Amino acid sequence: MLTIGVLASGRGSNFQSIINSIDSGALRAEVAVLITDNPDAYAIERAKKHGIEAIILKPKDFADRDAYYLRIAGELKKRGVELVVLAGFMRVVGKPLIKEFQNRIMNIHPALLPSFPGLHGQKQAVDYGVKLSGCTVHFVDEDVDTGPVIIQAEVPVYDDDTEDSLSERILKQEHIIFPYAIRLFSEGRISVEGRKVILKTKSS
Ligand code: GAR
Repeated sequence: MLTIGVLASGRGSNFQSIINSIDSGALRAEVAVLITDNPDAYAIERAKKHGIEAIILKPKDFADRDAYYLRIAGELKKRGVELVVLAGFMRVVGKPLIKEFQNRIMNIHPALLPSFPGLHGQKQAVDYGVKLSGCTVHFVDEDVDTGPVIIQAEVPVYDDDTEDSLSERILKQEHIIFPYAIRLFSEGRISVEGRKVILKTKSS
């Protein structure tokens, strides 16, 4: 069974979708720990409700970024975490964590990368006037939202969309593709060749 560590900064609806997927039996995994940078994150309540350990680590309590991410890597390793899942973690991940979990950190982003990286991907899409947007699950590398793409889902963008209405439409897809990407990983069906992620069918 796959051991997951989740990093989240806020509401945690993606975290919940992963918990639900495990509870329903669709995903054979366990969440060993939730780590958050935000003491007010609702994700903490979700962890408590499901008996998942929650740790609050604030960057300002550390000497520098490297020290912060070294500590996070240490907490994850201590618990035997095999896959790190960024479920609305609103920080650029530091090198020590990326080095420790090469191609084993997944992020969900609310746009079709490489379009609209960084913050407020949904607002960027509305402001730009694209007709399609969506969400992307990708492996995390050292830049912002540039790592190999694992899976994407598209949604239409309507003329009267606001950031909120588009976010809601995209979020529904996030809750489907993120647990699915984790499932593919847990079944050993993901391989990375340079920038490309190859998804193996069950029979191949
Ligand atoms: C999600 O829409 C996620 O894609 C986005 O934050 C939201 C978190 O919601 N992540 C990013 O923008 C990362 N750059 P949640 O806390 O309810 O899962």
